[in-house]
Amino acid sequence: MNAESALPLRAVLTGTGSYLPEKTLTNDDLSKMVETSDEWIYPRTGIRSRRIAAEGESVSDMAAAAGRRALEAAGVQPEEIDLLIVATVTPDAPMPATACYVQPKLGVVNATCFDIAAACSGFIYALDLARQFVRTGAKKKVLVIGAEKMSSIIDWTDRTTCILFGDGAGAVVVEARESESGILATETGSDGNLAPLLYIEAGGSNLPNTPETLLEHRQFLKMEGHTIFKHAVRHMANISLKAIADAGLTPEQIDWIVPHQANLRIMQAVSKFLNAPQEKTVSTIEFTGNTTAASIPIALDIAVRDGRIKPGQTVLFVAFGAGLTWGATVLRM
Ligand code: COA
Repeated sequence: MNAESALPLRAVLTGTGSYLPEKTLTNDDLSKMVETSDEWIYPRTGIRSRRIAAEGESVSDMAAAAGRRALEAAGVQPEEIDLLIVATVTPDAPMPATACYVQPKLGVVNATCFDIAAACSGFIYALDLARQFVRTGAKKKVLVIGAEKMSSIIDWTDRTTCILFGDGAGAVVVEARESESGILATETGSDGNLAPLLYIEAGGSNLPNTPETLLEHRQFLKMEGHTIFKHAVRHMANISLKAIADAGLTPEQIDWIVPHQANLRIMQAVSKFLNAPQEKTVSTIEFTGNTTAASIPIALDIAVRDGRIKPGQTVLFVAFGAGLTWGATVLRM
C-alpha cells in the first residue's frame, strides 16, 4: 500500500493474446478415424471441432505466437519482461523448460524462465505464481503462457479421449500496479491420491518407454471420464465460491466466468451452481475442444478482443485437471 495513492499493489492483467493452429479437425473427420459421430460427441461435450498443430509446429512456437500478441496488447517491450512462466504438460522436450525455448523466440532476454505442470489447472497455478512475484516486488512484468500440443499425447485410436482435446496457446502480461484492478483472490488445491483417474503411465523416469510400452499405447493419456466429470463439477463449484468469498464478493457480482473448457456440460453445471445465467460464461469449446493449460487464456483473449469482457468488470477463472488439481482466480480487469 502506498500512502499517497492508498491503493493496494496488485497483479494487473495488462494484455492478452492467443494462438490457434490453422488445421481444424471436425467431429466428422474423427468419425472416419474411430467409431464415433457428431451426434454422439456434440451433445455430450459441446465440441464440434478442435485445432491441431501442423507437422513440426512446437508448443514453444504456439506459446511464442500467443505471447507476442499479449506483449503487443500490453504495449510492453520484450526486454521489459523479467519473468516468463509457461504452463504445459506437453513440453517441447523433458529438458530444458519450454519457457527457455520460448525466450529467444520472443526476445524476452531479461526474463527468468521456467515451466509449471499442473495440467488443466496450469494457467491458474502459473498466474498465482506471477501474482506472488509481483506482490512481493521480486518481479515487475511477468508473461504467463498456457500452451499445449495435446495431439502429441492423445491415443488417436481411443474414442473415449481423442474426441476431447485440441492444441493452442494463450497468454497474459501481468504487471505490478497500485490499482483497484487486478487479481483480487486465488484459491488452489490438489489431490494426488486420485492421480490414476487421468494420467500418462509411460515415458517418464519411472517407466521409460520401451518397444512394449509403445506397442501397448502406454505413452498416451488415459482417463476415467465419468469419474473425472463428477470431481470436476464438485471442485470447480466449491473452489469458485471460496475464491469469490476471498475477494469479498458474491457470485452475483461476477460479470464473467471464464472456465477451463473441458466439457460444456461441466461448464453449465458450474454456472448453475453459482446461480449465474449461462450467458455470463465464456465458451470456446465448440471450436477449440479442451486445450488443457491453454484453455482459459485462449477464452479470455477471445472475449477481451471481441469486446465482451471490458475494463472494470469482474471475472472468475476456474479450472480442474489431472493431478487432481483445481483452482480459481477472481480479478477485476
Ligand atoms: N463415440 C461413441 N461412443 C462413445 C465414445 C465416442 N467418442 N466414447 C465413449 N463411447 C461409449 C462408451 O464406450 C460407452 O459405451 P458402453 O455403454 O457400450 O460401454 C458409452 O459411450 C458411454 O460412455 P461413458 O464414458 O460413460 O460416457 P459419458 O457420458 O461419461 O461421456 C465423456 C464421456 C468423456 C464425454 C465424459 O465422461 C466427460 O466429458 N468427462 C470429463 C472429461 C474431461 O473433462 N476430462 C478432462 C478434465 S480436465
